Amino acid sequence: MNLLEAIRSRKSIRAYKPDPVPRDVLWEILEIATRSPSALNAQPWEITVVAGGVLEDIKRANIEMLASGVIPNPDAPMQPLEGMYKQRAVDLAIQLFQLVGIAREDKEKRAEWMQRGFRFFDAPAAIILSADRSVDESRTQFDIGLITQTICLTALHYGLGTCIGIQGVMYPEVVRRFTGIPESKRITISIAIGYPDWESPANKLNSKREPLEAIATWHGFN
Ligand SMILES: Cc1cc2nc3c(=O)[nH]c(=O)nc-3n(C[C@H](O)[C@H](O)[C@H](O)COP(=O)(O)O)c2cc1C
Repeated sequence: MNLLEAIRSRKSIRAYKPDPVPRDVLWEILEIATRSPSALNAQPWEITVVAGGVLEDIKRANIEMLASGVIPNPDAPMQPLEGMYKQRAVDLAIQLFQLVGIAREDKEKRAEWMQRGFRFFDAPAAIILSADRSVDESRTQFDIGLITQTICLTALHYGLGTCIGIQGVMYPEVVRRFTGIPESKRITISIAIGYPDWESPANKLNSKREPLEAIATWHGFN
């Protein structure tokens, strides 16, 4: 797959086949992705790869926390969106729920759907990115963003799909309990990874983008 094809075809995969992802494939993807740039080459990312029983434990404990009504307390919280940004999120949810056949007023099914995010969309593996708290948050967020996208694009080369997910790490204490990531590290984001289940309607979603004319201004061109 060439680069432009990969960038255009990458999308969030929210349903996976159960087939495990070989460790050496994950190794290759991550090894390549460490070529990502970072400010001053600080490479603030730390990578924790989970699969098998450990991932199952995290999924189960996340769902238990959610079901018990524990308020999520992510290490890198995201503020609620407003205005047009919120509208884009609403549009995405409408598109997704239509595809998976969940009515707007069906709170039970919506809650069930939400659980899937906390279960890493039942992917057979997940990559958790964290950074030492001694490096400031805006710096690590930016650099982890870069390696995250690189991982997602590289995964396509191996026939793998990904979904970046804050939900998976909304209960950082759960992730810490099963991986030993210490408090001194800020758990930033997770990436679900596995072989896409293309039969799933969730994977038919093609999220929208604003046209370039709406977001780019040009200066100094004739
Ligand atoms: C920082 C970040 C966090 C995200 N967290 C979630 C999440 O918790 N659950 C989810 O379903 N998608 C999550 N996503 C995926 C976005 O919803 C998705 O990238 C966006 O809708 C664009 O769709 P696409 O990835 O298919 O192009 C996240 C993406 C990013 C960049």
